[in-house]
Amino acid sequence: MVTTRGLREQAGSEPITMLTAYDAPTAKLIDEAGIDIILVGDSMGNAVLGHESTLPVTIDEVKSRTAAVSRVTENALVVADMPFLSFGVDEAETIRNAGMMLKEAGADAVKLESGAHTVETTQRLTELGIPVMAHLGLTPQHVNQIGGYGRQGTTKQAAREILALGREHESAGAFSLVLEHIPENLAAQVTSEISIPTIGIGAGRDCDGQVLVITDVLGLDEWSPPFSKQFGDVRSEIQNAVTAYKDAVENGQFPTAEQSHIEEELDELY
Ligand code: KIV
Ligand code: NA
Repeated sequence: MVTTRGLREQAGSEPITMLTAYDAPTAKLIDEAGIDIILVGDSMGNAVLGHESTLPVTIDEVKSRTAAVSRVTENALVVADMPFLSFGVDEAETIRNAGMMLKEAGADAVKLESGAHTVETTQRLTELGIPVMAHLGLTPQHVNQIGGYGRQGTTKQAAREILALGREHESAGAFSLVLEHIPENLAAQVTSEISIPTIGIGAGRDCDGQVLVITDVLGLDEWSPPFSKQFGDVRSEIQNAVTAYKDAVENGQFPTAEQSHIEEELDELY
């Protein structure tokens, strides 16, 4: 079983693998493949809920999908992503929302899109026994603030800020740090400066691990970010299966006797 402590030992010696999942069958396959961490990301907003950003995603949506993922995951660490405004508004509410992910949905940890405003929260949650994965660089919940999904940490000042915040979240007790869409050489320096595992997405080759959004990996989305990579073509698989089903029904080839049942005594009802 993957643990936050095990990940710390793995970092630097063997790459950490992480993928998102939003449902039980996908999580089961990911877990059986031996992926270390399953993130029930708020990327579900774009990936499977039909939204144009992660902002509308609710705590109940993340909770329900985290529960589905947790029910079938035996080995991977399950991390629940805290959606927009489910943390940071009020301390008691933040703790209840994060705690619920462990207590009721079966997660092993939570992830918070991080900044100066999450250092104290990270410490408080950690003290209470709720492991926190921090997240710096591009934080999509700030899309309206940033004005897009561009690369972050591209100036010396911005890069130093990310490095400093990485250190602060490590000190506050975060067990790992996601680095999203930042230059490779910045991610490399953050990784060497802090001792908790860094997990990159669009952050180059030198992080302790990598994470991608499962629908991008599977090729389920029409669009995926430039730093992502399609490792499969599930869109074609679905198109083929759906079309084959439609044709079979329309041509009278499905169902056949094989999928049907005749109860002899019902033959003459009138
Ligand atoms: O929601 C998500 O999928 C994420 C990953 C991209 C790290 O936050
Ligand atoms: Na997220």
